[in-house]
Amino acid sequence: MNFENAVNIEDLRRCARRHVPRAVFHYVEGGVEDEIGMARNRSAMDAVRLLPRYLVDTSRRTQVTTLFGRQYEMPLGVAPMGLSGISRPGTDLALATAAGRAGIPFTLSNVSNDPLDKVVEAGNGHVFFQLYPCRDRALMYATMARAADLGVQVLMVTVDVPVHPNRERNTRSGFGAALKLKLPYVLEAARHPRWIIEYLAHGGVPKFRNLLSAEVTAASSAKDIAIASGAQLADTTQTWNDFEEIRRRWPGKLAIKGVMHPEDARRAVALGADGVVVSNHGGRQLDLAPSPLETLPAIRAALPESVAVMFDSGIRRGSHVLAAMCLGADFVFAGRAMLYGAIAGRERGAARAIEILKREIDLQMGQMGCASTDELGAKWLL
Ligand SMILES: Cc1cc2nc3c(=O)[nH]c(=O)nc-3n(C[C@H](O)[C@H](O)[C@H](O)COP(=O)(O)O)c2cc1C
Repeated sequence: MNFENAVNIEDLRRCARRHVPRAVFHYVEGGVEDEIGMARNRSAMDAVRLLPRYLVDTSRRTQVTTLFGRQYEMPLGVAPMGLSGISRPGTDLALATAAGRAGIPFTLSNVSNDPLDKVVEAGNGHVFFQLYPCRDRALMYATMARAADLGVQVLMVTVDVPVHPNRERNTRSGFGAALKLKLPYVLEAARHPRWIIEYLAHGGVPKFRNLLSAEVTAASSAKDIAIASGAQLADTTQTWNDFEEIRRRWPGKLAIKGVMHPEDARRAVALGADGVVVSNHGGRQLDLAPSPLETLPAIRAALPESVAVMFDSGIRRGSHVLAAMCLGADFVFAGRAMLYGAIAGRERGAARAIEILKREIDLQMGQMGCASTDELGAKWLL
């Protein structure tokens, strides 16, 4: 099947799987340890019961949704995904372009591969920047200042990676060896000639072009890059004082990503956060964490209306977006669903993922008797 004929996100996932070597697919797809969190994201979604209301005029349905004072064409954006250049060179740009054209936000990770200035241009004013706090604070502030200079208006600070997660799929599939193009890996990768040609034509291991560290920029081998970037990220010394300092320095809107406890959400807002992304990182960090769908209502209830409550983890269908919004989200992000599209067909594949989800949201809204995403709320929940 070609990505253009994909009927749903699962079809795009299958196309993506065929395109990339096994180790790369497992990197994208996998969770942490036993992948209970990933399964829980799905089962929590499956447990939602949406109660339709009929004989309501929904002939003029609109998905236009406001986030941080700006209108987007859908209540859905692209979640930050680092190292996406390993899936396919230019993936950050492909996703940003597709999102920009669709009028929805794209979030660039600070461990991304395409340069921020190019991504901002491609994203047509819809680009957010996501920051993993760095050990070297001066470096982190310089990265933030660069994003602000380039006109980025929303900074998303991810706090749920204090340590490197134990992703056993990566260990088993030899993901590190994949980066280094070791022999067993090369033999498997040879079964994906289009991927390997693109990979080599773009210089092999993709560079972290937005980490702005002298060591990372100078690093050339996969091992050097891993060491240099690892030394910066997964910093267990970060505290709320750092978050406060980030707030002091960031001129635009500030969101905190990965918050699961209502008290953490409240604290972030007390320190000046404009928004909270309720997320378990797609089940990639703490395996026994709840699904963010389970913590969403309590977090919404803990925060004033003026604070944007966002959600991600497990979005594969338009109805999942609607479920999260009925449970309290003002806006939703999807990670893998978008990435499958970009892997399968670059910018057009990403556009296909957006189009599929947009159509599903539209049809489900019609089915539910909901004319506007503004109306979504608990009244649709059983
Ligand atoms: C391949 C991949 C890379 C990711 N990299 C980052 C990252 O750099 N920063 C971040 O905050 N979250 C990262 N995430 C988590 C996503 O932002 C998001 O929370 C998660 O994908 C949501 O779950 P979903 O994939 O089921 O939609 C990554 C997720 C994936 C799948």
